[in-house]
Amino acid sequence: MDTKEAVKLRHSVRKYTDKPIKGETLKHLSDEIKSCVHESGLSIRLIKDEPKAFGSFIPGYGIFKNVKNYIILSGPKTDDLDEKAGWYGERIVLKATQLGLDTCWVGLTFKKSVAKNYVKDGNKIICVIAVGYGENHGVPHKSKTPDKVCVLNEKPPKWFKEGINAALLAPTAVNQQRFKFFLNGNNVRAVSTGGFFSKVDLGIVKYHFEVGAGKENFNWQ
Ligand SMILES: Cc1cc2nc3c(=O)[nH]c(=O)nc-3n(C[C@H](O)[C@H](O)[C@H](O)COP(=O)(O)O)c2cc1C
Repeated sequence: MDTKEAVKLRHSVRKYTDKPIKGETLKHLSDEIKSCVHESGLSIRLIKDEPKAFGSFIPGYGIFKNVKNYIILSGPKTDDLDEKAGWYGERIVLKATQLGLDTCWVGLTFKKSVAKNYVKDGNKIICVIAVGYGENHGVPHKSKTPDKVCVLNEKPPKWFKEGINAALLAPTAVNQQRFKFFLNGNNVRAVSTGGFFSKVDLGIVKYHFEVGAGKENFNWQ
């Protein structure tokens, strides 16, 4: 499965089986995390066989079951920390999808007090990503239409349309999809229009756009 296929197949999964992540799957996932840490300077840690962060029912919009593995995204506070965490976190999510794993971004409904034990003092926890073998692979989310998220002064080329379709398949907090893309020749600008975790969402949708459009076709503005 290539990354474009992973974009189409990924859905949030909140209920997991006991099947452990091991062998080649674990190695490939860990290698991707290492590359992302190296490139980004973020702290990204895979915590395995640790049920406490999702231990008891936490009121909220997602009910999780049997989450024992999760990835913590954290880093020293900087202006671009959240967007970077979104971009690199989604790169790891799509790699996990390619490896046959299920995932869910989690910003609220986990125990920060537990996750904090695995994070360097002074680092801000942005989000965690639950990962493992799901009871199922989730369902497609309801989506805005491309015209609701694009600002166009010209007929968009195929690569731009494919980028937008990929961005609309991206996970966003409470499925808010609060972003807009502006096209100007080969230049693309993406902005958040607000909401919870808006900068994390922006990083995520920009990663999806790059996968759909092909990085060779445009420049970020
Ligand atoms: C930054 C971010 C934070 C999220 N936080 C939570 C959360 O705290 N609890 C939860 O159950 N889902 C959370 N989600 C998952 C979203 O609800 C989910 O991505 C969205 O409904 C779209 O569904 P999909 O991922 O299946 O496409 C979060 C997603 C993102 C991107």
